[in-house]
Amino acid sequence: MGVFTILTVFVVVSSFSVLNVLANVALGKMVRESSSAAPFNSYLVVDGMNSAPYCYKSQTSGSQWIQIDLIWLHQVDYVRVFGKLSTNILNVKLTSPNNLTNIVCSNQTDQAGSINVVFQCSDSPEHSSKYVTIYQNSTSTDIMNICEVVVDGQWVLRSPLNFASDGEVVREVASAREQDMEIYEKRKGHEQLDEQQS
Ligand SMILES: *[C@@H]1O[C@H](CO)[C@@H](O)[C@H](O)[C@H]1NC(C)=O
Ligand SMILES: *[C@@H]1O[C@H](CO)[C@@H](O)[C@H](O)[C@H]1NC(C)=O
Ligand SMILES: *[C@@H]1O[C@H](CO)[C@@H](O)[C@H](O)[C@H]1NC(C)=O
Repeated sequence: MGVFTILTVFVVVSSFSVLNVLANVALGKMVRESSSAAPFNSYLVVDGMNSAPYCYKSQTSGSQWIQIDLIWLHQVDYVRVFGKLSTNILNVKLTSPNNLTNIVCSNQTDQAGSINVVFQCSDSPEHSSKYVTIYQNSTSTDIMNICEVVVDGQWVLRSPLNFASDGEVVREVASAREQDMEIYEKRKGHEQLDEQQS
């Protein structure tokens, strides 16, 4: 009984510290794009580096988009875009895995003339999202350039089965965060290999 209590406390403490490290739920996740000007592919918006040359650049202007796949469902509060072109006017939306729920996020400050913009989203656990899409409209005359996207959100437990016991929930959160960390480190490894090869 004593050992069980100590173990539970350890799991809780370690999962909280992992949560703090990974406040940005987009870090190291998967990203798709409409087009990119090699080597500035869309993964560079979730690589943890928010300045040039580690930025995404689309190949062409007009309707361009990037889509971050958060892999697990998240309740997203803010999407912070760093290092866009001051002329880029962006739209941000969240989508559920079945593509049914679309939540539009609104910019909190004027986008024209700014390189960093914060978008607020009215997501909720009921409308939790898997995809974050950032796009510009068809009449845009500039390429889309984005250095980093930071997504403030939290992992959402969907199945009632996950609530079997508090210990269960904590372990699930801890293991999802550990997988986040693993994916991030793997992708970092690939990036370093790419850099050595080029
Ligand atoms: C999701 O919806 C968009 C339109 O909002 C559509 O273009 C796209 O093909 C859909 N994707 C899937 C997988 O259904
Ligand atoms: C959002 O950006 C657009 C385009 O720059 C701007 O017209 C609008 O005022 C901005 N919204 C807020 C709340 O600042
Ligand atoms: C499309 O984007 C451009 C800037 O890229 C902006 O000037 C224009 O107002 C936008 N049009 C619409 C319909 O939102």
